[in-house]
Amino acid sequence: NGARTPLIAGNWKMNLDHLQAVAFVQKLHWTLKDAKHDEDSVEVAVFPPFTDLRTVQTLLDADKIPFALGGQDLSTKDSGAYTGEISGAFLSKLDCGYVIIGHSERREYHAETDEIVAAKVQAALRHGLVPVICVGETAEDLDKHGASAVPVSQLKAALENVPASAEVVVAYEPVWAIGSGQAATAEQAQDVCAKLRDVLAAELDADAAARTRILYGGSVKAANIAGFMRQPDVDGALVGGASLLIDEFSSIIRYQK
Ligand code: G3P
Repeated sequence: NGARTPLIAGNWKMNLDHLQAVAFVQKLHWTLKDAKHDEDSVEVAVFPPFTDLRTVQTLLDADKIPFALGGQDLSTKDSGAYTGEISGAFLSKLDCGYVIIGHSERREYHAETDEIVAAKVQAALRHGLVPVICVGETAEDLDKHGASAVPVSQLKAALENVPASAEVVVAYEPVWAIGSGQAATAEQAQDVCAKLRDVLAAELDADAAARTRILYGGSVKAANIAGFMRQPDVDGALVGGASLLIDEFSSIIRYQK
């Protein structure tokens, strides 16, 4: 995976208000600086709640902090009478480069179907955002169909009408591993990520498969990140709980050390 820049992404979920967000991002930046972290070796991205985006954007810009910024979701629509929704246009204007789409918590608590996920991927691309497409099997899916069947079909659905030239990121997050403290093994993650790369090749093309980053997510921590990153088809991590802990997250980012 030498040609793909590793991506370590922190999905804050519904944590940290806009004041806590500023303190957190500043501290993370200084911690990495103190550790003499090589900024070019790994891309770091943070996904704060919508209400934090403006303050975090201002801070990143003012202090030249080299973290990418992203939203945790977006609307399928671009504007109009959709109370409570957030347009991809708004995220782009706040310098978001990424947007998480189809997180299992959205699929489960907000009834997001594969069709909605595909429409959100299209909305992201319309606004120049890189969709971070989340896929993953539940414990029940794992029992019934094995690990890869559900993520493979979710990814196929999400890629409908996506041009081969589009930049996307895929995040494999087994639902049973999210917030459970029980991560997949590096080998399990590699096995599914390799199959997801085959989907990219079939649905997009060989070049897209070779350049697209596939992340693993689900109970990633400093103690297990290196094992995931050693896998040829794992190009980074989407981190939840551990992305809220400065020392833990900075150790994850510095997994090569
Ligand atoms: O999107 C990241 C996430 O769902 C994983 O959460 O807390 O298991 O790292 P966590």
